[in-house]
Amino acid sequence: MAIPRDFINELIARIDIVDLIDRKVPLKKAGKNHSACCPFHSEKSPSFTVSRDKQFYHCFGCGAHGNAIDFVMEYDRLEFVDAIEELAGQLGLAVPREQGTGKRPDQGLSRDLYELMEEANLFYQSQLRQHPDKKKVVDYLAFRGLSDEVVEQFGIGFAPDGWDGLLGRYRQNQAAQDKLLTAGMLIANDNGKRYDRFRDRLMFPIRDRRGRVVGFGGRVLGDGTPKYLNSPETPIFHKGNELYGLYELKQKHRDPQHVLIVEGYMDVVALAQFGVDYAVASLGTSTTAEQFQLLVRSAKQVICCYDGDQAGRDAAWRALETALPLLKPGDQVKFMFLPQGEDPDTMVRKIGKEAFEALMHNALLLPEFLFDTLSNNHGSDKGALAKQAISLIEKVQDTVLQNLLLENLAHKLGMNSSEDLKKKLGFAVNKAKPLNAKGLQGRGTPLRLAIALLVQNPSLGFGLIEQPALERLQMPGIELLAHLLEITREQSLNSAQLLELHREHEQKSTLTKLAQWDHQVADENVLPEFKQTLIWLNNQYIEQLYQELSLKQTLTKDEKIQLTKLIAIMKGTSK
Ligand code: UTP
Ligand code: MN
Repeated sequence: MAIPRDFINELIARIDIVDLIDRKVPLKKAGKNHSACCPFHSEKSPSFTVSRDKQFYHCFGCGAHGNAIDFVMEYDRLEFVDAIEELAGQLGLAVPREQGTGKRPDQGLSRDLYELMEEANLFYQSQLRQHPDKKKVVDYLAFRGLSDEVVEQFGIGFAPDGWDGLLGRYRQNQAAQDKLLTAGMLIANDNGKRYDRFRDRLMFPIRDRRGRVVGFGGRVLGDGTPKYLNSPETPIFHKGNELYGLYELKQKHRDPQHVLIVEGYMDVVALAQFGVDYAVASLGTSTTAEQFQLLVRSAKQVICCYDGDQAGRDAAWRALETALPLLKPGDQVKFMFLPQGEDPDTMVRKIGKEAFEALMHNALLLPEFLFDTLSNNHGSDKGALAKQAISLIEKVQDTVLQNLLLENLAHKLGMNSSEDLKKKLGFAVNKAKPLNAKGLQGRGTPLRLAIALLVQNPSLGFGLIEQPALERLQMPGIELLAHLLEITREQSLNSAQLLELHREHEQKSTLTKLAQWDHQVADENVLPEFKQTLIWLNNQYIEQLYQELSLKQTLTKDEKIQLTKLIAIMKGTSK
């Protein structure tokens, strides 16, 4: 269901983008605008600006730009609808939905998938309470030491043994069965016969950032194999993009200080039970770049926790390689290794929250882990060490971290400073590359200027008399101006709201470019300049009419009068 335009408009009107961004990226007042180092690329001097008048942000370094919704989408990595939910939540508003237009073709299907996943979730939870076999599950939970509260909090359930525990509930509903198959909850064999994927397992629902169940992990109640069975990739579940426990963590902490990444479902749940309620798990694979992005955006400090054995070290190293290019200034990543044979679940049960957190605080900083590992790998072979170090350091985008790592390396190699090292290696340290907004240099045409001024100051159009000439003028791009004038004439909007109306518009990218184009017109000249451009465009129309008439073989009486008038006007305006 679509979200009403008016609501989105209202949302942008009520959110102040300066406050919104300032909470995540502290801003400094700089003239009319506010600025900071850009959160979307690495830089030392601020080129990210936020305009309170226009209600949008723009980075002169990397070209990132947009309104409050775009910021939330980019910074928190949310989908459009989720970003709206997030902003509405901040204002304490519920998002209304309307029937009808604007639906993506698969939204209906996805919505049904979410509903069915939630039904499955409730079914598994109910089986934990009422299935005849429930005792063995309750015993297993007790054996694992899971409290009722934490079972409830994570929505843990039980998939009963048999082929049709879930399927049986949809015997008469072929459509629902088809969708359950798509959602990975049923499997079809070669004969097309369908049966439950999850049987006789303890069920861990995996929620997306909005709390919707998108998949499950199911553990055998003992020693069978596979130990865990997971949902396959489906239209609503991409395991590389999700983190088990992130939703539950965000329910507890709006703005967590740190987040701990562990390997298993059980680890997350046990840690939460013992008060370490800020752990998440990647879903059975090594941490992906997407998951890392999510993590560093969730908290400033990310602690990666691994087993102390070689497999754990290898997994940590893969995580480091994934993280290096993604780190932004201020991100802190640490690596923590547990004693042999322990995992976070067994560890926290053994030593409790405080001692566990003490281990966490003693975790290795990323540069320490990096150089420890390199030293282990290469022993006294400094050449090899330097080679591998450089190949890693080159990937780092954050110049502060990059220099720090170079300093470290120089020290390891017995050099005085990283400057020597850089010279010796001919090492090109990353520099923020300013993106040229192509074709927007210089003043551009009057039409372009008119559109830019209007997009940046929609109030110019408010109540403006109609411009019939513009409707008839033949000039590439004129329809866009006519269209904008029509919208801004009727309602008082700010730039962010005007752009929002064009999120799906075919000319959206032109509009966003012009919204940030530095037109070099001083504030006090904006109105007169804008009028000037309209006059110029009207004159172009007169010129067009004149051309049309003068090309005709014979003119009617009216046309002759019109031509005379046109010539008079043109003489009058070309002084
Ligand atoms: P572990 O084998 O370390 O499991 O796998 P665990 O979380 O400690 O579970 P318990 O304590 O034995 O119950 C870590 C993670 O790897 C994935 C799961 O996501 C699991 O939580 N995994 C493991 C699978 O997907 N399949 C498996 O068969 C095993
Ligand atoms: Mn375990």
